[in-house]
Amino acid sequence: MSIRKVRKIGDPVLRETSSNIEKVDKPVLDLVSDMLDTLEDEGGVGLAAPQIGVTKRVILVRYEDKIETYINPEIEIIENKRIEGDEGCLSIYSIQGFQVKRYPKIKIRTTNIKGNTEEFIAEDLLARVIQHEVDHLNGILFIDHLGVASRRELLEKINEIKSDQKNYI
Ligand code: NI
Repeated sequence: MSIRKVRKIGDPVLRETSSNIEKVDKPVLDLVSDMLDTLEDEGGVGLAAPQIGVTKRVILVRYEDKIETYINPEIEIIENKRIEGDEGCLSIYSIQGFQVKRYPKIKIRTTNIKGNTEEFIAEDLLARVIQHEVDHLNGILFIDHLGVASRRELLEKINEIKSDQKNYI
């Protein structure tokens, strides 16, 4: 299929709530295929459909050299304690070095590309990436989880990148 343009912070599509997939049919598999191509090209650890402009509940997660596809993923919190960890996002110019609090252990209920439902426990980095990607389906970006000072610092970095890009157009 094709590599799609990754939408960046400020694009209103990233703030929409995505809708459930009713049936895993050809259009859904085509969407997954475009998301795979885009994630391979960008080299990130995860991608959610709204990041390529499609407000459907589909996410991809890179885990142990494989890319998993989760359709209509739902998270259940197992341990109600969050820990900080580094996070970045293709839609926030892959800027690194910001700490986000996430649950280290969660239960996932999801549909796979064959249309079957699955349930499993995710921990640590996988749990973090899934929470980040599911946030995208609800119009949430990791910057929303930051404190005032970190958020301001990140916004400054974003503005620097944007003004650099303007100079080359
Ligand atoms: Ni992201």
